[in-house]
Amino acid sequence: ALAACGDGGGDGSGDGKTVLGFAQVGAESAWRTANTTSIQESAAAAGIELKFSDAQQKQENQIKAIRSFIQQRVDVIAFSPIVETGWDTVLKEAKDAKIPVVLTDRAVDSADDSLYVTFLGSDFVEEGRRAANWLVEEYKDSDETVNIVELQGTTGSAPAIDRKTGFEEITSADPKFQTIASQAADFTRAKGKEVMQAFLSANKDIDVLYAHNDDMALGAIQAIEEAGLKPGEDIKIISVDGVKDAFVAMTEGKINVVVECNPLLGPQLMDVVAKIAAGQPTEKRILTEEGVFTMDQAAAELPNRKY
Ligand code: AHR
Repeated sequence: ALAACGDGGGDGSGDGKTVLGFAQVGAESAWRTANTTSIQESAAAAGIELKFSDAQQKQENQIKAIRSFIQQRVDVIAFSPIVETGWDTVLKEAKDAKIPVVLTDRAVDSADDSLYVTFLGSDFVEEGRRAANWLVEEYKDSDETVNIVELQGTTGSAPAIDRKTGFEEITSADPKFQTIASQAADFTRAKGKEVMQAFLSANKDIDVLYAHNDDMALGAIQAIEEAGLKPGEDIKIISVDGVKDAFVAMTEGKINVVVECNPLLGPQLMDVVAKIAAGQPTEKRILTEEGVFTMDQAAAELPNRKY
């Protein structure tokens, strides 16, 4: 490991490799699994020693993992913060230990941006806007009320907060769009199904489901079908991520549009880690490039999907 980063440097592995400690959110979604694989494969390809920890969707576990990385004196710490707030103390500890921190995928809500070197990931607000733009286009010729239900991601997480914000920014401009129910379902299929069942029994007239990720949308599809309704027709579905199963559901006419969120952040992350290890400057914000895919594009695009 590197003597340049920190206090004499490295974890004692003694083989000259840069050591990266990565504290992952969990394995809550297909997106997350693809993200983990990308990070593991890219680290191996770049010759970076990876210490990987899975926090099982609990902030306290992630904080413990970061503290353990500090203790082991890794060269760089990277993590996807489960929620936005509550990181300043542990990030100060890393800073005091002179270990640079990279935020990947999700940002922290902190007034002090010296606590991390860079943030690499998607623009979640823009994803919310893209989801809403499809809706506006879809209903542009109708004045009737559009009843929307929303499955939010993990409470307090950047993607849940931002995807809601971006979506509302657009839909609030037209009173025909009414969000009649909105609840967290933790980015998982099981919760997506459960919360959608509750939405269906409480609301007679749902036109649109906006799910903050594909796993929740896929769970909700089961609930909709079990209720005797046709997903994609009786209830239009907007989702975010673009995992293979969502593309399959689009080819079956069950999801209308998917806003892409790219989990394959490993190569960009390893580039940043290598730069930091070499003492080179990095940009403070590194954005990933993403598209929007509709049902009619799904069959052609499916073979190209990498996650
Ligand atoms: O932070 C990215 C989000 O986290 C993805 O959209 C979701 O699927 C994942 O669990």
